[in-house]
Amino acid sequence: METGSESNLASLEKKDFGKALCIITGASKGFGRCLAQEMSTLLKPGSVLILVARSADKLRELETILSSQRDGLVIRCVVADLGQNDAVESVLSEARKTSSSDINSLFLFNNAASLGDVSRHVRSFTDVNEVNEYLSMNVSSALCLTAGILQLFPADVGLHRCVVNVSSLCALQPFPSWVLYCTGKAARNMMFRVLAKEECDLRVLNYAPGPLETDMQVYARTNTADEGLRTSMAAMHSEGRLLTCEVSVGKLIKVLLKDDYESGAHLDFYDL
Ligand SMILES: NC(=O)c1ccc[n+]([C@@H]2O[C@H](COP(=O)([O-])OP(=O)(O)OC[C@H]3O[C@@H](n4cnc5c(N)ncnc54)[C@H](OP(=O)(O)O)[C@@H]3O)[C@@H](O)[C@H]2O)c1
Repeated sequence: METGSESNLASLEKKDFGKALCIITGASKGFGRCLAQEMSTLLKPGSVLILVARSADKLRELETILSSQRDGLVIRCVVADLGQNDAVESVLSEARKTSSSDINSLFLFNNAASLGDVSRHVRSFTDVNEVNEYLSMNVSSALCLTAGILQLFPADVGLHRCVVNVSSLCALQPFPSWVLYCTGKAARNMMFRVLAKEECDLRVLNYAPGPLETDMQVYARTNTADEGLRTSMAAMHSEGRLLTCEVSVGKLIKVLLKDDYESGAHLDFYDL
């Protein structure tokens, strides 16, 4: 039975995200694409959705689908490689086209990521350029994009501002032969925890979406050097234990609508 306080909480829960600027990196496929689809249904007319990835065709295809489904939603695609120095500026210049007076909330989803070369162990990573390249895309770009967006939309403009880091269990636990990925995810988690301490009005969430049936999973279960890990990933797949993006995105959206998580927290799909 629902208690009085639960029903009060339920009535406070938002039904949508209002008129928002919503930026999603890695929106061309997998979790990011699904997130774009779900978010688009919860944005009021006049909202702006910025989709970022390298695959122009996939972004345009998504733009066409979403535009046909949602009247009054402005969709902008940024075709950029977040590992390159000019990519963050490309996203910021699209974001600059939206004035804070035209929206009442801001969402930035740092979702884009790559697994890195999981076919090798730590001792083989002697090439500084290779490591820097990985960290540039998976760590530096998320920090610099987040910082740039917060400068464009500072606290004093009175927006509800929310930054989500799509995280992983790998931010917390070491997985053999996944040194780049685990390092990047751990660094990103800490980055967003620091941000939450610094910006009191900002809502910051590290969300670990669980094992998803996406291209990243296929790559992981095919290329992982560590035999135990590779076998357990293959078993998760063959036993149907992977999650659909829809189910995991659904949980994230619920958390964001309820909006009562501790800012800077790491929430895992299986903890919710
Ligand atoms: N799949 C899982 O089991 C799992 C588990 C835990 C956490 N996660 C996390 O969930 C998020 C989404 O993963 P996913 O499984 O959906 O991965 P995915 O299917 O591989 O999709 C990754 C997305 O990131 C984009 N991307 C990759 N490199 C990029 C670059 N250099 N510049 C710009 N965009 C780039 C890709 O687009 P383009 O290729 O078009 O650039 C794509 O849209 C990631 O942060 C991942 O770490 C996934």
